[in-house]
Amino acid sequence: MRILVTDGMDKGAQAKLAEMGHEVVNQFYEPAELGTALRDFNVVIIRSKTKIRKQQIDEAKGSSLQLIIRAGVGVDNIDVAYAEENGITVKNTPRASSQSVAELAMAHMFSCARFISAAGATMRAGKWEKKIYSKGIELSGKTLGIVGFGRIGQKLCAMAKGIGMDVIASDIYHVPGIEEELGMTYVEQDELLAKSDFISLHAPAVDGKALICEENLAKMKDGVIIVNTSRGTNVDEAALLAALNSGKVLAAGLDVFGEEPSANPALYAHPNVSCTPHIGAATKEAQKRIGAEIVDIIENFGK
Ligand SMILES: NC(=O)c1ccc[n+]([C@@H]2O[C@H](COP(=O)([O-])OP(=O)(O)OC[C@H]3O[C@@H](n4cnc5c(N)ncnc54)[C@H](O)[C@@H]3O)[C@@H](O)[C@H]2O)c1
Repeated sequence: MRILVTDGMDKGAQAKLAEMGHEVVNQFYEPAELGTALRDFNVVIIRSKTKIRKQQIDEAKGSSLQLIIRAGVGVDNIDVAYAEENGITVKNTPRASSQSVAELAMAHMFSCARFISAAGATMRAGKWEKKIYSKGIELSGKTLGIVGFGRIGQKLCAMAKGIGMDVIASDIYHVPGIEEELGMTYVEQDELLAKSDFISLHAPAVDGKALICEENLAKMKDGVIIVNTSRGTNVDEAALLAALNSGKVLAAGLDVFGEEPSANPALYAHPNVSCTPHIGAATKEAQKRIGAEIVDIIENFGK
């Protein structure tokens, strides 16, 4: 098969696909050119930069394109229903990066609690702000509220329990037996907002009002720490910024943004924000696992 890789992919997995007799082409296309380019391929593998919407599907349909693979979890950059209506299968690799994302959420929690990001920035600017950054808090003994208790939320729970946090979670679906297994408790979202010292978002992009909005911020404890490694649209950035400025929110750890690259320096450069440029799944281990899952998908496609 002819396979187009638009946003990069583990080299070992690419070599394996070549060994299997497939032709792999690495090339990013702008949205206006992508649809026509796809006509020459059987499979396209994308990460988050490439978007495959109705326009691209209309331009590619009826050609040899059979399979779109999202190397990662969220398929919100693909019009899945429209692709499938037009005979193009869409697959993703949902489990491969859960540990990496959970570890990044944990890293942001530590970073926020001890001002690691801001303190590092001031030291690089030649300052020694020991007094300012001597007001950190421990995670141990605090309550972590996880909104969206799926694959990543559960991994984060296990780590948080390991350092002595109490974990509560809200989810629209409750996994039977998991409360006993992981030593956590499901609660309604409003109870989670009211009780948590740390809130970490792990739900998909929710429709309608953002999870972190003015109304929900008002329900939280003063000095709460919020971490978002899910989707940028789950946070109303203006409301979060106002809450950071007022001190309602002590600090925020953000890996995802409403617009990427973020055009909101007031938020990402805020001294109490620890930020990363959407790198939750970007570890060597996760990329290797994603590559192996993709090889598997292609090997079994049509069987
Ligand atoms: N930062 C990154 O690079 C990165 C990488 C991978 C995944 N993600 C994002 O992480 C999130 C979670 O991924 P996952 O693999 O754990 O997904 P998952 O499907 O395993 O878990 C999501 C959970 O959220 C729950 N949920 C759905 N709507 C909800 C709502 N309104 N309120 C509360 N819970 C709700 C679902 O029932 C499910 O249990 C997704 O948004 C995904 O796009 C980010």
